[in-house]
Amino acid sequence: MQKKLEIIQGDITKATVDAIVNAANEWMLGGGGVDGAIHRAAGAKLLEACKAFPEVRTKVRCPTGDVRITPAFELAAKFVIHTVGPIWRGGHDDEDRLLESCYRRSMQLAVWVGCRSIAFPAISCGAYGFPIRRAADISVRTIQTMLNNGAPLDRVVLIAFERETFQAWQDALSHEHNALT
Ligand code: APR
Repeated sequence: MQKKLEIIQGDITKATVDAIVNAANEWMLGGGGVDGAIHRAAGAKLLEACKAFPEVRTKVRCPTGDVRITPAFELAAKFVIHTVGPIWRGGHDDEDRLLESCYRRSMQLAVWVGCRSIAFPAISCGAYGFPIRRAADISVRTIQTMLNNGAPLDRVVLIAFERETFQAWQDALSHEHNALT
């Protein structure tokens, strides 16, 4: 089970997996960080596909903690799963549960459309300010729980853009492993 979860350092737009996850915002019209990189690499059709989702409230196509899926157009992946992580507000605004929801629902949606592999960036850990070590624990625990419960995925890849993120995920994975042995 452990082998299915990989941690690598790199650029998620280059990932050769069935689905890559985008750390989007609720409006889903692109932005900076990994969102900007994914839109640039996927091409203009990605923005058109995002615009096709109806607004569930003013300027909200995807509420925080939820997911939407589009084709990946010019990327190597087949799909982009757009999720919206919580903005860090000190930890008293349901941020942990919302971040866990992003990882869980992204995996569920990937499985639903027949994906066998999925790659994640460190959702909420850039512009949205979520503390990286806390986010790393939540993401590793959520993914491992789903894999242990039989989610039919061959590979889940956590892609760290920075060294600090890579280290936080490595540490979270070894804590999780130690807790189980
Ligand atoms: N590949 C992998 N990870 C990346 C890449 C990339 N090409 N580019 C950036 N990252 C990393 C960042 O270093 C950070 O660790 O993704 C993580 C998430 O950072 P952000 O992209 O800032 O995402 P988030 O914190 O969830 O903020 C979302 O930023 O640009 C906007 O539209 C987006 O408004 C939304 C907000």
